Amino acid sequence: MNKYGSIIIKDLFYSYPDGTQALQGINLIIHPQESVALIGANGAGKSTLLMNLNGTLLPHSGTVQIDNHVVTKKELTEIRKKVGMVFQNTDDQLFMPSVFDDITFGPLNLGYSPEKTKQIAFDIMTELEILELQKRPPYKLSGGEKRKVAIATILAMSPDILVFDEPTSNLDIKNRRNVINIMQNINQTLLVSSHDLEFLLEVCQRCVIIDQGKVVADGEIRKILGDEELLQAYHQEKPHSLIPHHHD
Ligand SMILES: Nc1ncnc2c1ncn2[C@@H]1O[C@H](COP(=O)(O)OP(=O)(O)O)[C@@H](O)[C@H]1O
Ligand SMILES: [Mg+2]
Repeated sequence: MNKYGSIIIKDLFYSYPDGTQALQGINLIIHPQESVALIGANGAGKSTLLMNLNGTLLPHSGTVQIDNHVVTKKELTEIRKKVGMVFQNTDDQLFMPSVFDDITFGPLNLGYSPEKTKQIAFDIMTELEILELQKRPPYKLSGGEKRKVAIATILAMSPDILVFDEPTSNLDIKNRRNVINIMQNINQTLLVSSHDLEFLLEVCQRCVIIDQGKVVADGEIRKILGDEELLQAYHQEKPHSLIPHHHD
């Protein structure tokens, strides 16, 4: 079993420069290879929390530790190798002249040979059904296509921890299914925020609810998403697949 890919968050506070207190004392431990869903209303702090995991944002106080590295400016290179992140806004993520260049950028940077890199890129593009996009400039793609390319750039590096911020937003049914299949096959630590609770049920084993920058529930996903009162309190709706069907 892989012993890498742990996340330890202690008393994490984060405020934006305008004074918005987005995280107000997050404590959370995620073990190697766990698959964790992160849910909560708009503005609860999901994206802010995820951006603190790879040092896109740095704590105001408290700590985030990835395996034995505390997330600080000094450790950023190490942290970015360990934590691959697909941002909510994929425009921030794709910057090369072609899809192929974007997907191969990471592996080449990690020192993989051009041959190995090409093989990795080919396999991932095949899996995500984006081979025909490889020569296109990313900025000219549709929202859903961009998201798939962004997912490919992270998968290509095979980091110990994969973080996805609302990965199924603007994906059609076929691509959503495709992304579910891929995520079900990820063996590394997985942390996914989404409002698509049915998707989370298929991909994650554990679920954390955050509200106003704090963890308010944490447990086995079917328990959390089956708890109507708890969900209502945090503006969520019980997924249909967890509602018992009566056939008379
Ligand atoms: N760049 C920013 N500047 C100021 N406040 C922000 C910024 N980004 C997010 N916020 C605020 O921080 C809080 C948490 O936002 P966010 O982490 O994006 O929530 P979520 O992803 O759960 O919808 C919200 O109150 C939001 O308005
Ligand atoms: Mg968000």
